Amino acid sequence: MRVQIIGFGVIGQGLAEVLLRKREELKQRYSLEVKVVSITDISGTAYAEEGLDLEKALSVARQTRAIVNYPGAKEMTGIEAIEEIDADLVIEATPSNIKTGEPGLSHMLAGFKAGKHVVTSNKGPLALKYKELVTEAARNNVEFRFEASVGGAMPVINLARETLSGDKITAIEGILNGTTNYILSRMTREGLSFEQVLKEAQELGYAETDPTYDIEGIDTASKLVILANAIMGIDATFSDVKTRGITRITPEAIRLAKERGYVIKLIGEVRNNHLEVSPRLIPETHPLNVDGALNVAMLHCDVAGEITVVGKGAGAIETQSAILSDIIAIWKKRGAGQ
Ligand SMILES: NC(=O)c1ccc[n+]([C@@H]2O[C@H](COP(=O)([O-])OP(=O)(O)OC[C@H]3O[C@@H](n4cnc5c(N)ncnc54)[C@H](OP(=O)(O)O)[C@@H]3O)[C@@H](O)[C@H]2O)c1
Repeated sequence: MRVQIIGFGVIGQGLAEVLLRKREELKQRYSLEVKVVSITDISGTAYAEEGLDLEKALSVARQTRAIVNYPGAKEMTGIEAIEEIDADLVIEATPSNIKTGEPGLSHMLAGFKAGKHVVTSNKGPLALKYKELVTEAARNNVEFRFEASVGGAMPVINLARETLSGDKITAIEGILNGTTNYILSRMTREGLSFEQVLKEAQELGYAETDPTYDIEGIDTASKLVILANAIMGIDATFSDVKTRGITRITPEAIRLAKERGYVIKLIGEVRNNHLEVSPRLIPETHPLNVDGALNVAMLHCDVAGEITVVGKGAGAIETQSAILSDIIAIWKKRGAGQ
């Protein structure tokens, strides 16, 4: 299978690493040989008809932070690479942008137009233009999969759509952002203030320099929109979510909750066509009470009852579990060049 990687940061490089590690296993278990024919970052595109040397690509990216330094690479953009290079599948792993969806949105649409399947970890375009993307993929008869866009390694979209395909999912609730869960968990455990924990989380690299997306609930809202569309068939977009973050949670509120056997968690919920992100009181013994930076999703099913999954919501390597499962699913369904 000929694959193009667009975006070669944490996720793009993690994929290259896991593909190297699993080369033999993928061949043996699935007769799948993944040939990465191009890698694009903001600097340009490395390209090799017979497949790039991934070890070399990783070392170039790590040492110089610019893939254009790979031997023979060109100053070619993602769109040009998608249009001009022969491949079956595009992995879109550029930064999530919740205002415009770009550059991911254009990469995905260009991929469909070029007759290529697309696998992505990029939630921005999906939270803004879910319907358009899915319609364009179908119109061009290509596969479009995005398990990694919600909950990193935590399997929820494919679980609901494939394993639970006989069930109707009537509601979804979950913790879909690891940073806020980390902050609230530490505030609960150590009685610290929001500002104190945020500062420490930033110093340790758990929170972004600009943490607005996480702490204001915007990241959770984007993921909730994807789940509402992909699992429950609700035609919602980012602006439909009623969103409140965790910035006003005080140690006092957490202490009072604790005394009554509750914790405070930032929960995203979709139920009865209503999408909401807000801090909620959760009983300490409830399955949604997961600690640290973990993510959790509870699916309310009409046959199975409640199904809860817990997993790492991010991580260079962990997230590849979702990306690989999407690649393998496409390979099983379509093979190469179909
Ligand atoms: N990190 C995680 O654990 C995780 C988990 C799940 C989902 N995701 C999602 O996966 C995506 C990638 O995340 P990441 O952590 O890998 O981000 P990242 O480390 O910032 O990497 C993004 C990559 O995209 C490149 N890029 C930016 N604009 C581009 C453009 N116009 N054309 C081509 N390449 C471009 C960047 O190049 P420069 O560095 O040169 O700017 C960089 O190589 C995001 O949408 C994120 O939300 C991440």
